[in-house]
This record gives sequence, C-alpha cells and structure tokens, in this order.
Amino acid sequence: MKATARAHTNIALIKYWGKKNQNFILPYNSSLSMTLDAFYTDTTVEFSSGFTTNQFYLNGELVNDEMTDRVFNHIHKIKTLLNQLDLPNFTVTSTNHVPTAAGLASSSSGFAALTAAAVKAMGLDLSKSELSRLARLGSGSATRSLFGGFAMWSTGNDLTSVGSAIDEHPEMDLHLLAIETNGARKKIPSRSGMQNTVETSAYYDAWVQKAKNDLDLMTYAIKQNDFELLGKVAENNAMAMHATNLAAVPSFTYFEPDTLVAMQAVQELRNNGISCYYTLDAGPNLKILTQSKNIDAIKAYFNKKLPKATIIQATFGPGIQYLS
Ligand code: ADP
Ligand code: DP6
Ligand code: CO
Repeated sequence: MKATARAHTNIALIKYWGKKNQNFILPYNSSLSMTLDAFYTDTTVEFSSGFTTNQFYLNGELVNDEMTDRVFNHIHKIKTLLNQLDLPNFTVTSTNHVPTAAGLASSSSGFAALTAAAVKAMGLDLSKSELSRLARLGSGSATRSLFGGFAMWSTGNDLTSVGSAIDEHPEMDLHLLAIETNGARKKIPSRSGMQNTVETSAYYDAWVQKAKNDLDLMTYAIKQNDFELLGKVAENNAMAMHATNLAAVPSFTYFEPDTLVAMQAVQELRNNGISCYYTLDAGPNLKILTQSKNIDAIKAYFNKKLPKATIIQATFGPGIQYLS
C-alpha cells in the first residue's frame, strides 16, 4: 500500500482568485494555466499497520504545523469520499523541487502529487478528471496540475468543477523565466489573501467579469498560436488580479521593491523590441513569458538589473506521473 507520484506546478495565465464556496473550493471564475517542466513535487504515500501514528515529511524533515493539518485533512477527505475509512495509519513523504509557499505554486504540485499517490496507495484507479476533483479539495490550483501543456479549471459544482486538458502537447514556442527575487515563505497565504479580497474589495465583481472575458481571449490566442496576444492578456489579467488586493480592506499586496524593478525591466526590454510579458501569482517573484529567440537577451538584461535574482527557465511540462 505504497505509491509515489510526481506532479508539476502550473502557472495560471488566467488566474483563479476567490472561492464562492470555501468548503468545496469552488471558484468564482474559470482559470487557465501552463504546466511547467522545471518545478515539481514528488510525493510518496504509504499506509501500513506498522505505523503507530500518521506522519508528514517535507524536504527530508518531519513537519508538525498547519501544513501537516492540511495534509492530514486532505487524506481524511479522500478516504471518506472513496469509502476507505478503515485503512491503517500513513506516512506522507514529499519533496518540493520548487520553493514552498513563495508564490511559485507549490500547493498546485503538492496537492496534485499527494492526491495521485494517496489514491494509488489505496489500490484504486481513478481517471485524471476524478483525481482533479479530489485534488481541488486540497488546493484549487492543483486541479490543473494533473494535466500537461495548457490546462483549465472550470467553474461548476463539487462534481463538475474540475481540471481538463486544453492541449497537452502545444505547438506554441512558449518559455517562462522565473525571476526568483525572494524564495521565502509569504506572509499572506493564497487562501486568506483571496478570501479577504472576495469579502472586502470593491473591485472584486469587476475582476470576475474581466476574468471571464480574458478567458475567451486566451482560449482564442492558444487556438491561433498567437504568442503576442497570449502574453498581453496574461499580463493584463495578472495585474487586474493584483489590483483587487490593493482595493481590499485593509489593502495588501504581494509586490516587493524587486518585483517592481523586474516589471519595469520587462517594459524596457519591450521598448527595445524584445517581445516578453510577465505574470505573477500570490508572491513577489515575477515570471516572464517569451519565445526561444529572446531568452538569452532577457537573461543577460536581468543579470544586470537584478544580479542577486535566480533565474529559472521553464517550458511546458507533463501531467501527473507515477514513479512507483
Ligand atoms: P504557493 O504559492 O506556493 O502555492 P500557497 O499559499 O498557495 O503558496 O500554498 C502553500 C501551502 O501549500 C503550504 O503552506 C503547504 O500547506 C502546502 N504545500 C506546499 N507544498 C506541499 C507539499 N509538497 N505537500 C503538501 N502540502 C504542500
Ligand atoms: C494567484 O490554489 O494556492 O496562484 O485553493 O486556497 O489552495 P487555495 O489557493 P491556491 O491559489 C492560487 C492563486 C493564484 C492563481 C492561480 O493559480 O490560478
Ligand atoms: Co498555491
């Protein structure tokens, strides 16, 4: 009763930012993402009557905090929904090949890998769509990490609000450069950040409307293999999401001084004829979207502008994988 799964993180090009149902993690708007090859989580789940307690190890260390509660609650939900409540104790061992809780989407790969490994360790065989529904109960963005390439997560009810593949092997020449200026854990988790915004931001309704329109534009850009349109819509959508936080009461932001330096550098590169756009999640680290021919020039520019930043290059990554 042991299995290991690998899930890659995904970066949302059209963001999910707010739940209309916090219990079932149902979003106000559908979202769309690119799964990344460079960032992933490996998670092993083992059930054994030899274990006297349940344990959670992350990156080689036994963890005993709210992260552990979240993992245990998730396993409990899966066991309940799959009628496996009489299973013995378990150990979860996970390694993040991505900074944890730094706005680089560790919860997306973390809960996708945990869900897939737990279900397989139970000896059950579920479709990616069914796994996506379970992963959603751990973290909304995890719905999309079951799938490679371009994926989306649709609004709906507990059974229908799941991730699906748009194109698992896209033709588009699309690369992402993560400009890691701060890999520390964020002070405002995605979960509480978006909930405060839903409850207090005067811009929230406008955001939901805009996200719906942007999703149509993004779907069109992908169909047309139009990198420029994809980049423009992604950048504008990310900024609109972050604008809702500025209008929350009390207002907050994930931007840091280096984030603004990086945004300005992208604008300067564009002014110099180098096509690139940015997006960013709930954290300070900017992600640049660009095409093969511009990667070297962008890296060289950032090495000068933000010499302390770590630049990680990524392109499309695969969907869920089983390592054993
Ligand atoms: P991020 O931007 O990294 O997704 P979030 O605030 O959305 O930040 O989520 C971070 C939380 O996700 C962590 O505090 C932890 O509870 C959970 N998490 C991250 N990695 C893992 C993992 N490998 N296994 C289980 N839970 C994880
Ligand atoms: C800005 O999926 O991390 O990255 O569902 O509460 O776990 P929970 O939140 P999470 O939120 C992700 C927010 C985002 C945008 C996105 O990935 O769509
Ligand atoms: Co997250």
